[in-house]
Amino acid sequence: MSASHSSAPQAVTAMTLSDATRARFDREVAKYPAEHKQSAVMACLSIVQQEQGFVSREAEQAIAEYLEIAPMAVHEVTTFYNMYNQQPVGKYKLNVCTNLPCQLRGGNEALAHLAKRLGINMGETTADGMFTLQQCECLGACADAPTMLVNDRKMCSFMSTDKLDQLIDGLKAAEGK
Ligand code: FES
Repeated sequence: MSASHSSAPQAVTAMTLSDATRARFDREVAKYPAEHKQSAVMACLSIVQQEQGFVSREAEQAIAEYLEIAPMAVHEVTTFYNMYNQQPVGKYKLNVCTNLPCQLRGGNEALAHLAKRLGINMGETTADGMFTLQQCECLGACADAPTMLVNDRKMCSFMSTDKLDQLIDGLKAAEGK
């Protein structure tokens, strides 16, 4: 009989939450009625990512225990939104939109240009830990295509080859590289 290929998460030991992290979770949970504390799951994931750089399975387990929900319920949220990093990423996470409207206006070319410029493939991180390159779904700004997002927060519009180069040059200069 062949082995199971279930994608259900393996049992992991929960990461130990620091008092400071727990206090931040408490503040998020307090925003919801007591019987809906699971509604704070996205906020808790964001806190962990901000503190650790990514959301490990151990962190998911800790959040699940804290919110008293199934680890799978946390994992489903982590894997649904690509703003959550499931493994360590570079200092600058570059997400290029490759949905159709952006594709029609050079989204794939923008992704290819960054890959060439950085010497990595999509999904990879540069050896110096500076950049991670990813593609993403529609960022809700199709009129500004091609678009991209830096570190899940900074929206960049009309990303021509020149603008991409300016962005990379600027980020490198900011790091003294
Ligand atoms: Fe790229 Fe909508 S398709 S922002």
